Amino acid sequence: MGETIIRVKDLHVHFYTNQRCNRVLNGISFDIRKGRTLCVVGESGCGKSVTANAIMRLLPELSRIEGGSISYLGPEGEVRIDTLERNGRQMRKLRGEDIAIIFQDPMTALNPVYSIGFQINEMLQAHDPSLRKKAATARSVQLLRDMGIPLPEQRVHEYPHQFSGGMRQRGMIAMAMACAPKVLIADEPTTALDVSIQAQIFELMESLKTERGTAILLITHDMGVVAELADEVAVMYMGSIVEYGTIEDVLTRPAHPYTKALLKSIPILGRGKKQQLDPIRGSTPDSFDRPKGCQFQPRCDYAGPECQLSMPEETLVSGVHRVMCRKHREVQSDGR
Ligand SMILES: Nc1ncnc2c1ncn2[C@@H]1O[C@H](COP(=O)(O)OP(=O)(O)OP(=O)(O)O)[C@@H](O)[C@H]1O
Ligand code: SF4
Ligand SMILES: [Mg+2]
Repeated sequence: MGETIIRVKDLHVHFYTNQRCNRVLNGISFDIRKGRTLCVVGESGCGKSVTANAIMRLLPELSRIEGGSISYLGPEGEVRIDTLERNGRQMRKLRGEDIAIIFQDPMTALNPVYSIGFQINEMLQAHDPSLRKKAATARSVQLLRDMGIPLPEQRVHEYPHQFSGGMRQRGMIAMAMACAPKVLIADEPTTALDVSIQAQIFELMESLKTERGTAILLITHDMGVVAELADEVAVMYMGSIVEYGTIEDVLTRPAHPYTKALLKSIPILGRGKKQQLDPIRGSTPDSFDRPKGCQFQPRCDYAGPECQLSMPEETLVSGVHRVMCRKHREVQSDGR
């Protein structure tokens, strides 16, 4: 299964805005493993980016980790990320050398006052201090070429504002790849890119995983991408992981009504053009006005009166497959 590199256990994150507390993550647990890709899926606002940013300790000041733990299990033993100072030496070292993140918006990662090449070189040299400038630049050029950037020998000297949005995105990914991280967190990294570049980037992530054993956390809206890249899948709804399992568990034996609805609402690559797509009924409730009992109950086709009374417990279905639904057996077997 691959050894665990990041372990998130019963993590609670709250945001405090206008003196109100928004419980954004409600006790989520998962492992990111060597040589595996964990995909996190779920509708907008369910807490995917907050999860990614919590691991990197990049959450805004108005948020707090209120419970649980985030551990990095590196060569020197366990490091409790959740207890580190956000911008302390140890956290900066982890970010620079061990865990890399790529975002939807590349400008958050690129510094406008330095050339792209300078920034990639800096990453390469931080990782390998014996690397001379000329060799670092040659590697930077190669990384940009791998990312499909035309004329990389010239482009390497340009600044972020001289790159198009798609090229900036690829520049940022090149930077993340440059430090050969043990863990790569990718938060919708290809949303703004065209299909052929998307494919190149996913191919690169696959080779990082299989050749270097990189552990990957990939956040995506695209079930086609999930079907192609995931080893494990975590389905999030309103700050909880409502279903977790291997890709086979989740795609072929979904046990939560929300997962089933997600699978019906999104085209899946390789399933032909004639898939019937049904949008998920209703919308995510306001997080300050949460439904009673099961959070999915107002939108659930399986809901019964008991679902309004309490949150369902998390149940192990089989192997690593777990679900938060009291009717999971019916959901799995009814063929709907
Ligand atoms: N900077 C912030 N200030 C206040 N609340 C925030 C902030 N960032 C996130 N939140 C809260 O956390 C919730 C989860 O946000 P998050 O960005 O993790 O969603 P997401 O699943 O990544 O959505 P998307 O698919 O749109 O990227 C939001 O619904 C919002 O209530
Ligand atoms: S517990 Fe009830 S409301 Fe919640 S997902 Fe399961 S059937 Fe639906
Ligand atoms: Mg997000």
